[in-house]
Amino acid sequence: MVMFKVTRVETTPFEGQKPGTSGLRKKVKVFIQPHYLQNFVQATFNALGADRVKGATLVVSGDGRYYSKDAIQIITKMAAANGVRRVWIGQNGLLSTPAVSAVVRERVGADGSKATGAFILTASHNPGGPHEDFGIKYNMENGGPAPEGITNTIYENTTTIKEYMIAEGLPDVDISTTGVSSFDGPEGKFNVDVFDSTSDYLKLMKSIFDFPSMQKVLSSPKFSFCYDALHGVAGVHAKRIFVEELGANESSLVNCVPKEDFGGGHPDPNLTYAKELVARMGLSKTHSEPNPPEFGAAADGDGDRNMVLGKRFFVTPSDSVAIIAANSVQAIPYFSGGLKGVARSMPTSAALDVVAKHLNLKFFEVPTGWKFFGNLMDAGMCSICGEESFGTGSDHIREKDGIWAVLAWLSILAYKNKDNLGGGNLVTVEDIVRQHWATYGRHYYTRYDYENVDAGGAKELMAHLVKLQSSIDQVNKIIKGIRSDVSNVVHADEFEYKDPVDGSVSKHQGIRYLFEDGSRLVFRLSGTGSEGATIRLYIEQYEKDSSKIGRDSQEALAPLVEVALKLSKMQEYTGRSAPTVEE
Ligand code: G6P
Ligand code: ZN
Repeated sequence: MVMFKVTRVETTPFEGQKPGTSGLRKKVKVFIQPHYLQNFVQATFNALGADRVKGATLVVSGDGRYYSKDAIQIITKMAAANGVRRVWIGQNGLLSTPAVSAVVRERVGADGSKATGAFILTASHNPGGPHEDFGIKYNMENGGPAPEGITNTIYENTTTIKEYMIAEGLPDVDISTTGVSSFDGPEGKFNVDVFDSTSDYLKLMKSIFDFPSMQKVLSSPKFSFCYDALHGVAGVHAKRIFVEELGANESSLVNCVPKEDFGGGHPDPNLTYAKELVARMGLSKTHSEPNPPEFGAAADGDGDRNMVLGKRFFVTPSDSVAIIAANSVQAIPYFSGGLKGVARSMPTSAALDVVAKHLNLKFFEVPTGWKFFGNLMDAGMCSICGEESFGTGSDHIREKDGIWAVLAWLSILAYKNKDNLGGGNLVTVEDIVRQHWATYGRHYYTRYDYENVDAGGAKELMAHLVKLQSSIDQVNKIIKGIRSDVSNVVHADEFEYKDPVDGSVSKHQGIRYLFEDGSRLVFRLSGTGSEGATIRLYIEQYEKDSSKIGRDSQEALAPLVEVALKLSKMQEYTGRSAPTVEE
């Protein structure tokens, strides 16, 4: 048996180690400085306290980006030195963020142990590689991100840290082969368990979805499928689930081999960055595809985001969550007993609200950020939730879940086609969306991003919009001067949220203008940008009249876009005549 000792290494604080709820994200060149990662990890152990660390079972894995392998060895040695009892590592260090959440909640070790927390090594949809980003975040025993109380303490600890502990004499673990290695340290046994990355997650998915019915769809000659993991970790799970379990053709997987630099791409599943999928699905402006697949989807680097596409058809994330919620009870066994409630983030379109109303479901509108859903789920108040930023999920875990969203769509396709896979026409993704609009009305929706604008200008623009809100009459006068064909603003405010579970209040969560006909304009500053400020403008128009739901989205939204840009004086404050990204 290999014996290790505990060494205390002297260190000094680094500036700027403040984690958000999505963890600490920095350039790789920052992370590889001697002691940088170590300081953060020790600060986390100290913030958790001895009772959450001594004897603990920790998951350590991530999206496989550059520096992950080194980081896993460092964290394992530090865990051993801090009295952790077991470290669990997905094979090759690969686990999607939702898979980590599932492993924490569901996996039982050979000795009956359960995980107490996790270090997730990812910077989500940010590019990877020696010149790009690395990240680390800590998740708690419920499988969700550490709450602010803990992340604040981690940060305070990083500002005063003087030493960290690391095991000496503990060899690097071979993370490419599954199996348990056992070591002896001053506080007793220490085990490293390298396990199959997908088994536990797959088991959870099988307890939620009807796999045989999805298999029927995937094997039907009428159906075709394409999944693009953008070289992120979702590729590992996709191969096992879609190909090996559900029988999809191997050629339906694109970019499903994880790469440390995501093949040089930007692993964010949207119409701009998921280029290959967009082309295959017949949605590229420059390339024409003669016969696109019936269904396509993409994931981000760590597999928690998703984009869903039909043949030559884009499903907005806001519609996606509404459609999943509307069909869940019939199509997904996990929800057959009914939904506890549904929730969306404030800037996400109100498509979900209409479903909630029709189905008489509890409904919550929360600020941007997945953590707000977690509280509702822990309290048993929410089953399905989603965000316009390509996040969809449910209370099966405490992270958004990209592959879950695809399985939800496959389940809906299976349900809608249960009688016509033999004869009759396939009910397509586009059919399902159009039927949904015909039943519930359509929320035309677009988002304009102004990236890396001057922070001062962005602040002034927001202040200008807040000031305008004091007189709705004045606002309506200005608007009528811009376009006479938009309806009246009936309410305007800065969104504020009181968490119904813990009573905490979140202020200044974005500026809303609500129109009489259900249209909305929302302005907010991004919380995830790394340079300057990013202004996001969300534009939404509700159309109940079924003869008007088939319009081109850009065209339908043109009057509101004009109003938004002129009312906010966008060009004046930002110097920009066009957005950086338009979705
Ligand atoms: C992260 C969070 C999401 C959130 C998004 C918003 O991805 O996990 O829950 O919707 O950031 O980003 P933004 O840049 O709009 O603040
Ligand atoms: Zn992500």
